[in-house]
Amino acid sequence: MNAPNVGRRWLITGGVLAVGSMATAAVTAPADGSPGEAKQDNRTFFGQETVSFHGAHQAGVLTPPPAHGTFIALALLPGTTKRLLGNMMRLLSDDAARLTAGLPALADTEPELALAPGRLTVTFGFGPEVFAIDGLESLRPSDIEPLPRFGIDRLEPRWSGGDVLIQLCADDPMAVAHAQRMLIKDARPFATVAWVQKGFRNAAGSAHPELTQRNVMGQLDGTIQPPLADRSVWVGDGPAWFHGGTTLVLRRIRAELETWDAVEREGKEHSVGRRLADGAPLTGHTERDPVDLTAKNSLGLPVISTFAHVRRAHVADENLRILRRPYNYDDGLSTGGLPDTGIIFASYQASVAKQFLPIQRALDESDLLNEWTTPIGSAVFAIPPGCAPGQWIGQTLLG
Ligand code: HEM
Repeated sequence: MNAPNVGRRWLITGGVLAVGSMATAAVTAPADGSPGEAKQDNRTFFGQETVSFHGAHQAGVLTPPPAHGTFIALALLPGTTKRLLGNMMRLLSDDAARLTAGLPALADTEPELALAPGRLTVTFGFGPEVFAIDGLESLRPSDIEPLPRFGIDRLEPRWSGGDVLIQLCADDPMAVAHAQRMLIKDARPFATVAWVQKGFRNAAGSAHPELTQRNVMGQLDGTIQPPLADRSVWVGDGPAWFHGGTTLVLRRIRAELETWDAVEREGKEHSVGRRLADGAPLTGHTERDPVDLTAKNSLGLPVISTFAHVRRAHVADENLRILRRPYNYDDGLSTGGLPDTGIIFASYQASVAKQFLPIQRALDESDLLNEWTTPIGSAVFAIPPGCAPGQWIGQTLLG
């Protein structure tokens, strides 16, 4: 199998597998709502763009991240068996296959809302407790357990853990909302909702798709990614059912924007090691210039601080890099006008132990950014491999 270059996939192909509407003229109804003749309009819209649900790997990992991402954790009802979980996954996979193709789910009460998926992807994951179910104990991938507690953590149960993950991403929040409603309706006989985290990136079409997005702290976030997905992201060892899957570490990280605002620009850039204007490393000129961790200033001190985020997070072996696919969150304001905002940090990797944990440990030990960021939620999921049409996600484990 060819090893796709993640950066190239995200930046060049856009990862959109089917773009039904690009060459199709749109038809609009009269603005006054009258039943008159619809007018022909030659503009193109992204609503009909679809990403295939089927394939060797689940969509929503290497897929270029659409503007909206909702992460839902389900808590399975007590007594859930392997067979019942399989029944739920069969139903949910069928819903996902239809909705991502722009088709209504079975018994969709609002079928019109399914017709503009806007690159909708639905990605499923299994949390550690799934492997406590009778018959699944010996099939737990060794990585699928809660992370150790870090000194910087201020975790809240309302954002942590979870048995089954449903990750919904699309460029149109209506597509996400409709998919959420349809899937949760079908999940209700099997599970309750543990938490929902809604995130966003720049709106579709607001900037050139090749540009790295900014996070709520104003930084270009997502420059350095693994070059080879087959080695860094997809699992190739451990239990056979998991081959072609990946692991997701989801951290909800609050951004302390009030104190961050009080820092001057130079201090903000020093804390990361990159410039705010263009994301260039402090040792370079453009975003894609390599970070020179050996460079010294006129006083003989490192240009990129010993405690700067990019130095602490840097992984020399490219095969061990994590795939970062962060979303911002903004859950409104306190009555005093203080923001409740931050980053839903989604990290995909073949191995939590070999790839994610060493970075998180280094950041926990000392990272200037810790002053303005606080992890308040943490969850780990096994993201099973993809499936072919007629099959369902989780079949290799539960079928
Ligand atoms: C709110 C928290 C965080 C913020 C605001 C943040 C921001 C950034 C920024 C601005 C960069 C530089 C540009 C880039 O390469 O994308 C970066 C790099 C990076 N971050 Fe974070 N980050 C956060 C949390 C984390 C966490 C929790 C991890 C992993 C445990 C992590 C891992 C990395 C890695 C691996 C790099 C690339 C380092 C390199 O090789 O140059 N970050 N981050």
